[in-house]
Amino acid sequence: MNLSVLILPGDGIGVEVTREAVKVLRHVAEAGGHKLSLNEGLLGGIAIHRTGTPFPEETRQLALGADATLLGAVGLPEFDNAPPEKRPERGLLGIRKALEVYANLRPVRSYKALIDSSPLKNELVDGTDMIIVRELTGGLYYGTPRGISGTGAEERAVNTMVYTRAEIERVAHMAFQLARKRRRKVTSVDKSNVLENSQLWRRVVTEVAAGYPDVMLDHVLVDNCAMQLVLSPKRFDVVLTENLFGDILSDEGAVLAGSIGMLPSASIGAKRPSGAWTGLYEPVHGSAPDIAGQNKANPLGAIGSVAAMFEYSFGLAEDARRIYGAIEEVLNSGRVTADLKPAGKPAQTSEVGDAVCAALSARAVSA
Ligand code: IPM
Ligand code: MN
Repeated sequence: MNLSVLILPGDGIGVEVTREAVKVLRHVAEAGGHKLSLNEGLLGGIAIHRTGTPFPEETRQLALGADATLLGAVGLPEFDNAPPEKRPERGLLGIRKALEVYANLRPVRSYKALIDSSPLKNELVDGTDMIIVRELTGGLYYGTPRGISGTGAEERAVNTMVYTRAEIERVAHMAFQLARKRRRKVTSVDKSNVLENSQLWRRVVTEVAAGYPDVMLDHVLVDNCAMQLVLSPKRFDVVLTENLFGDILSDEGAVLAGSIGMLPSASIGAKRPSGAWTGLYEPVHGSAPDIAGQNKANPLGAIGSVAAMFEYSFGLAEDARRIYGAIEEVLNSGRVTADLKPAGKPAQTSEVGDAVCAALSARAVSA
């Protein structure tokens, strides 16, 4: 296969985790006899520095032309006080919208080797295996009107939480279809005791569920969901929710996985004529400027995102499984970064990437 991938390292630790993810991408493509063509582009703070805008037109064109895009992270502290439209994060929102990747899949699972890295009791987290399906191109992140106006006591800020039926339907279908490949259970999360927006969400999800009689659906309010996630995480299989709730709940989910550095994500939307998904792949973590450039960051979330790319955008599920297997092997070996609190000296970012590649080579030989 010919695989064309756009690489957007972005800001902070995005650069170093992406470097390791690309190592793995090259390794797996080569082993599978695929022709890989890589382009690199600018997004986020670095794009503001070089071009004056967080999502340059050139990046848009490159992303639209690629089979898949791999992103590190965006965000730099120097923009902390900038208005939303001048911030690196706006670049991320822009590319998500440009690619129309409305479903953000964030798998959360507990690994045996990391069970002690979670602050929660072992028996509580052991066996956790869920996927958060976060709506990604609607809701408060994009709704208008928005803005700050007025002065003094009358100064006011407005954001708008808006969803259309069509936007809810398409992401709900995605969740139910995923559930069919898993334990056939969807938990839809909303705040329908207060928000009209959530009332529509709940009604439409319930209607979509009628087409999937083999999948169980339940509804949980978002505040209760936040509690259930740490009280009984094993009850969840597919968690379906809107943009902001999904952003918040997925960081909480990271506690179950041992570290936010572990979480990969796949953002998918339209299918190409080939049947593969247009996709944007990024770790769930941010740019972590406090540890950037120190070769300390955990690259496994970024590497897991490459696995997701093979699965969803290239339709190469076997290659994805090999990467997940190699990640697990590296975790078992204990050569992990400081966030996972290894018994011995923590491994460096680049050592972890090398270890994943070595585990992949060993598997190829023994297979
Ligand atoms: C995430 C991030 C982003 C989001 C930020 C960086 C805009 O927190 O991907 O979870 O809120 O979507
Ligand atoms: Mn987030």
